[in-house]
Amino acid sequence: MTENNYPDYDSTSYHLNVRGSKVLPNSGSRSSIQSSPYTLFLESGQGKQIVDVDGRQLLDFNNNFTSLIHGHCHPAIVEAAREQISKGSAFSFGSEIEIRLAELLCQRVKGFEQIRFMNSGTEAVMNGIKAARAYTGRAKIAKCENSYHGSYAAAETSLAVEPTDLSIQDPISKAYSAGTPQGVLDDVVIIPFNDVENSRRILDEQGPMLAGILFDPFGAGMGRVAPSQAFINLLAEMRDTHGLLLISDEVIAFRANYDGCMSQFNVPADLTCLGKIIGGGFPVGAVAGSRDIMAVFESTDKKARLPHGGTFNANPVTMAAGYAAMEMMTPEEFQRINALGQAFRGAITNVITQLNVQANVLGQASVFAIDIVDPVAGSLPTGRGAMRQIEGIDAAFINAGYFLSPGLHGSLSTAMDENDIEPFCDTLKTILQAL
Ligand SMILES: Cc1ncc(COP(=O)(O)O)c(C=O)c1O
Repeated sequence: MTENNYPDYDSTSYHLNVRGSKVLPNSGSRSSIQSSPYTLFLESGQGKQIVDVDGRQLLDFNNNFTSLIHGHCHPAIVEAAREQISKGSAFSFGSEIEIRLAELLCQRVKGFEQIRFMNSGTEAVMNGIKAARAYTGRAKIAKCENSYHGSYAAAETSLAVEPTDLSIQDPISKAYSAGTPQGVLDDVVIIPFNDVENSRRILDEQGPMLAGILFDPFGAGMGRVAPSQAFINLLAEMRDTHGLLLISDEVIAFRANYDGCMSQFNVPADLTCLGKIIGGGFPVGAVAGSRDIMAVFESTDKKARLPHGGTFNANPVTMAAGYAAMEMMTPEEFQRINALGQAFRGAITNVITQLNVQANVLGQASVFAIDIVDPVAGSLPTGRGAMRQIEGIDAAFINAGYFLSPGLHGSLSTAMDENDIEPFCDTLKTILQAL
């Protein structure tokens, strides 16, 4: 807890926003971290705590948007990265640690025979799409409306559509960034998330032209609402009927289980896009799949069907930190952190019931989210990815010593335990009562 109140226009963070905005658009390099009225600047992080430049301590429920599954500066990860940096941070040669991380991941997940590393989840999704296109020789992909998959133009199509669009049974392919070429939009087919009937109709019509269906098995809004088994079964059926590939975006979802998120549906994906936790806190992305499909990256005497370079791909620091992080994520540790997620969701539900607040407690595995129902607009159509922001609530949590992701989303780290539940629920109660 801190004496500082947010917002504070005398604070160092505020002054850094002003100074930064002279040389950086919005004073930074990530649209996703901008907050209103200004973004906090961080000094350090240790375990589950972060400290901002004004000395404010916060319990970090954001964990760099779910990527820091062990929280900040886990000693084993720091040591692995430090040791590698002292030997060199990047080479244009192979390094054994890349093979070790690939072996670790391939041993865990059915369907991972080979992996290709890159530097972000965005690149993973881009290469997943390009691999499906190279393998099938088809141009189009399908994806769910409002589903976030990073900032590759095809993958961001129809993200953040207006609430009025949500009543449309045939969602439209809509540009997210200004200036997106119409040709990109023409090759993206949008389906309504978790709507089996309408998705079946659209996919049956478009199926023969589709290279693949890109989807997030953690569902809408960073795991807020999971896809139904029936929806996943439909995607698998479409694969069999139309010869397209299932591209599972597990950039966040890979934190769900030891053997990948699709194991819980018993439907293996053809290509899986990875990122976040597998880099141990360093920039990372990866695509995994069968040897047959991953052969698109392979050159023999001829150029590969999908040539893929990258100056920092599989850089040994990321590989070493990622290996240390993933090695610690044993089946027991996945179980513990998922049980903690369930305990958080249960305790939050109790607070909401006690106070008789109209709200839905969402989430799965090691994430939770609180959707407070608008008395006028009603419950959100969360199944299609919408998310509500309540004025002032993020600031209230910051002032109480907690940093949540937008839409009151919390992502747990292994640095947390049962003792964190009660203080958080007491704070939640106080904030809800004040609202
Ligand atoms: C599901 C999903 N896919 C892709 C990405 C893009 O990953 P990155 O931010 O590493 O480019 C994200 C990022 O949050 C994500 O949540």
